Amino acid sequence: MGFIEVKDLKVHYPIRSGFFNRVTDYVYAVDGVDLHFEEGKTYGLVGESGSGKSTIGKTIIGLERATAGEIIYEGQNVTNKPRRKKGSFNRDVQMIFQDSLSSFNPKKRILDIIAEPIRNFDRVSPDEEKKRVLQLLDTIGLTEEALVKYPHEFSGGQRQRIGVARALASNPRLIIADEPVSALDLSVQAQVLNYMKRIQDEYKLSYLFISHDLGVVQHMCDELYIMYRGRFVETGTKEDIYDHPQHIYTKRLLSAIPSIDPINRKQNKERRLAAEKEYLEKQSVFYDANGRVFDLKAFAGTHQVALPDTKGDN
Ligand SMILES: Nc1ncnc2c1ncn2[C@@H]1O[C@H](COP(=O)(O)OP(=O)(O)OP(=O)(O)O)[C@@H](O)[C@H]1O
Ligand SMILES: [Mg+2]
Repeated sequence: MGFIEVKDLKVHYPIRSGFFNRVTDYVYAVDGVDLHFEEGKTYGLVGESGSGKSTIGKTIIGLERATAGEIIYEGQNVTNKPRRKKGSFNRDVQMIFQDSLSSFNPKKRILDIIAEPIRNFDRVSPDEEKKRVLQLLDTIGLTEEALVKYPHEFSGGQRQRIGVARALASNPRLIIADEPVSALDLSVQAQVLNYMKRIQDEYKLSYLFISHDLGVVQHMCDELYIMYRGRFVETGTKEDIYDHPQHIYTKRLLSAIPSIDPINRKQNKERRLAAEKEYLEKQSVFYDANGRVFDLKAFAGTHQVALPDTKGDN
């Protein structure tokens, strides 16, 4: 049992059209997914653009409404509850966005940006507050000078680290990081991820890393959720997913990981083409007649795969 359990979560957005602006259809952005979060573990949520990853993150922290399903925090149902009724959930779950520049108020100094959660959740003296902000800056490798600067005075990598510091300021248990490094150069990506990994033990943090790239999260994650069109096609441990992938969609994502090794480049290209071919050929087996992902089924131990019902198994 995790400290957060998400059960059969659905988020459907109405599509309105016509003269009367009636709801004519729905976008099934998230359509029946289960997640759980245990202390100190790192989870990956991976899928292509538009598969519903950000919607899951935003719904967990309460930026979007769940159409159905439950978000259970320490046994308490916090689904669609107003912030004031969610108790410590608000401080225990924080989110970092891809583009920190737009999520920071450009007119605020770094001191005020990082101190905001402290001001929201704890009443401390200005001295104590400054001490905590300095400690957070130190954790992310910035110095006191940063306090009086503004967001635009920092590089992309530094800004993402400031985003990490702000998320940490409330001492959360779970940080949802939505593509936290995808706007950064490869070398800076590694730097930010390393910081996040390093502080994990110190702060007893769990992470949900959202990415469209299985390569980026490979070394971070203990468990993965592979998502396609609002549903999970496969979930399991790092070993299950990277060493024993079963769903054609997972295999295709794996084959898309870019290789920096020039010797294997030709081999990689062949692997990618083979995965693409398998994907095209086996679509009718792995998706139902409407192109919908099947329900997850236990495959082996921790490993679950969305496979069709077999005969007699109803
Ligand atoms: N507020 C909204 N109203 C209507 N449709 C929405 C809304 N937000 C998201 N969607 C739709 O829901 C689906 C999932 O969007 P979401 O942003 O969760 O995808 P994503 O996996 O995060 O994609 P990306 O990798 O591009 O960030 C998309 O089809 C999107 O167009
Ligand atoms: Mg997104």
